[in-house]
Parts: sequence; C-alpha cells; structure tokens
Amino acid sequence: MQSQNVLRVDTSNVPAHVPRELIVDYDIWATPETADPFKTVDRFHAGPPIFYTPVHYAGNAGAWILTRAEDIQAVMSDPDLFGSKSKSGFTALIGESWDLAPLEVDPPEHRQLRSLLDPIFSPKRIEQLTPGLRQFCNKLMDDFGGRGEVEFVSEFARPYPVKIFLELMGLPMDDFDQFVEWGDMLLRSPTIEGRVKGGKAIRDYLLALIEQRRKNPGNDDVTSRVVNATIDGQPLPPHRLIGMLYLLFIAGLDTTASSLGFFFKHLAENPDNQQKLRANPALIPQAVEELLRTHSVVTTGRHVMRDTTVGGVQMKAGDWIAIGLMFGSRDPAEHKCPAQVDFDRPMNRHMAFATGVHRCLGSHLGRKELVVAMEEWLKRMPPFRIKQGETPRMHGGIVFGVDYLPLSWSR
Ligand code: HEM
Repeated sequence: MQSQNVLRVDTSNVPAHVPRELIVDYDIWATPETADPFKTVDRFHAGPPIFYTPVHYAGNAGAWILTRAEDIQAVMSDPDLFGSKSKSGFTALIGESWDLAPLEVDPPEHRQLRSLLDPIFSPKRIEQLTPGLRQFCNKLMDDFGGRGEVEFVSEFARPYPVKIFLELMGLPMDDFDQFVEWGDMLLRSPTIEGRVKGGKAIRDYLLALIEQRRKNPGNDDVTSRVVNATIDGQPLPPHRLIGMLYLLFIAGLDTTASSLGFFFKHLAENPDNQQKLRANPALIPQAVEELLRTHSVVTTGRHVMRDTTVGGVQMKAGDWIAIGLMFGSRDPAEHKCPAQVDFDRPMNRHMAFATGVHRCLGSHLGRKELVVAMEEWLKRMPPFRIKQGETPRMHGGIVFGVDYLPLSWSR
C-alpha cells in the first residue's frame, strides 16, 4: 500500500470537500503488462475503505474509489442518488448524444426498458442457445486443435462472443469477420481515429439493420423483437433503439473475452485445478462462479446526484464514483483469503455482474458462454499450459483483460 501522503500526481483539480488524507494516486490503467492487475487492487484493501484518485478517469477529473462490498452494494442499490446517465463515453466518442440503453438510463424509464429485455435474455431462452454455443466452440477449436498450440485470446476468446452476438441478433455469419474487425477497432485501436472508425461502422450497420427489420418484421431474433417492441403502446424512439442495439453488441464482447482469458490463464498455470475439472466436469459451473469472483473484470461508475455521505465520507453532487467490482468480489471482509481460487469455497457470492437495477442483463448468457467454453475445451483438448518461454500479457483499465495468452499441449 503506497503512502497516502506521498502524492506523485497533480492534485490541483481535486474538489475542496475531499479530505487530503483520502487522496491516493491510483490509476486503473497503469498496470505493467506482465503483472496481474487484480493484485494491484488487493493492496488497497489495507488502506481507507473509500479514497479519491485525482488521476484522470473516464473523462472525469478524478473519482471516488470504493473498496468494500458493503459500500458498493449501497451505491448500486440507490439509482436515484447515484445516476448512470452518459457514464461510459462510448457514444460521445462517435459524436452521438444518445445513451447506451438501458445501461445509461436512470429509473423510471430504465425499469420499462428492462422489462422489455429481461424475457429475451431469460435462462430458458439462453438454454435454447446452448447447442449453438457448443458448435461455435468446436468450430473454433477445429482450426487449432491439431496444432498443439494456440494464441488463446485472438483465436478463441475474442471471436467466440462475436459469433454468439450474430446468432442472438439473427445476423448472417458472413458478417463475422467484419464484426470481429469493427469490435477490435472500437475496443483496442491504438488511436482515437481507429476507435471512432470502428464505432461509426458498427452504428451505421445497426441503423441499416433497424430499417430493414422494420420493413420485414416477423423474425424471432433479438433485433426483430427490440425493433418491433412497444412500451405503453408506443414503439421505442429511434435514439433508444440504436442505444440498445449498440449496447448489446459491446456489452458482451470484452467482458466475456477478458473473463475467458483470465480463467484459461488460471487453468494453464494451475494444472491441479485443471485436472480437478477434467476429473469432475460437474464442478465446472461452480468453478466458473469462483473464477468470476476472483476475476471480476469490470469497473463501472455512478454520478452523485445530490450531496450525501457514503460509508461516512462526504460526497457532493457531480462527484464521480468509480466502482471496481473486483474490489467488492475480493473484499477480505466478505471472503477468507479472497485472492485464492478455491473451487470448493462454500460461499462465493461475487459482484462480477454488478448488483442493483443495472445488474448485467446478459449474466445468464455470459455464464453459459463461460461454462460451455470450459466444458468443450476440457472434453476435447489435452492438458494445456502456458507455452514454454512465453509470458502472458494483461492490462488494467475499465475492463481488466488478457492481451496475449500462448497455450500449448502435447499432441
Ligand atoms: C462475463 C461476461 C459479462 C460480465 C462480467 C458483464 C458485466 C456487467 C456489469 C458489471 C454490468 C453492470 C454495469 C453497471 O451497473 O454500470 C453489466 C450490464 C449489462 N450487461 Fe453485462 N457482462 C457480461 C456479459 C454480458 C453479455 C453476454 C451481454 C449480452 C448482450 C451483456 C449485456 C449487458 C447489458 C445490456 C447491461 C446493462 C444492464 C442495465 O443497465 O440494466 N453482458 N454487465
């Protein structure tokens, strides 16, 4: 834990109501690429439960950071006091003013949008997709299964959720390579221009799709159901439609790919745990929950709407709270030895999918994707490890992720 009194960053932009002893120069982006970003988080549990980082964060000057599950729960459970409007900056990036829906929409409208979407993503609907998920996994594995090695992130973790998105939305698989490229540009381009170009291409495709599904209703895919849905007898306005489809595309990409990256890295580095699941595949769903707990990848945020206190700390209207869900899932006040992956842990309640009204709409789908990937891999591939002489690379940031994961196995 670094000393809170030795600050290496400019604090001149820190609001006057922030006590100096609560200022800590924590930068969620600054993790060395070969270091585990989750370990960076753990050391903050030894410090103040809530602190303020002046380091530029998500378009804001600075942010409060909550380190305890209890405070995260309290903030996420009160959407009237802690709002979500325009929080991600994704649409501003491409020069748009609409919000990602329902992620950046506050109640009461949020409730209406969720009741429209929840049935489409129910466990029953997701169960129907499972054979398709198994097929996608195997199709991807066909390409590298006989090779004895794979770069897991680019050849499996990133394309897998894109295929699922196309299937879900009723889009042609011929568009797969195009979507992988746009997704990569939007989320990973080294330049702003590249990110904007990727984002605009996705927007334009989705706008044309909305028009097409309006003219030809009748399909049972998610796009058609959203485009033809009504709230109080009225169709959804255009800005909500595009905000919703755009979110459905980006919400499941990095989150799923990053979770897969960390989970498979863990299995490659921990042959005992890999063997445990090979010997008892029925344990996989439980193992996925534990890995979601130890590797909750998302940092989201909330605007403080009115002056208030959180955990005894005074906050003012307009302050930004960065909510790193990994802090909550690895809180030592909730879990014994929180950093340790223990598939037999009796209680592994986690925050990977957040909590409160914005709790992940795709949680059933996300879970299923992870469980199916692990089941199919362990069924088909021999024991795998990190390729000799190679080092995985990771990153911190809004979604912690794995950039490079070379795996190998004996053929
Ligand atoms: C392992 C994979 C996933 C993780 C870790 C994850 C995580 C999250 C988190 C933490 C939130 C809450 C954000 C907030 O409160 O500000 C969220 C919201 C959301 N997620 Fe996921 N997600 C995953 C997969 C998916 C998938 C596959 C979809 C489907 C398309 C999806 C769709 C959404 C949507 C639409 C929301 C907004 C819900 C709302 O505002 O009411 N997610 N996700």
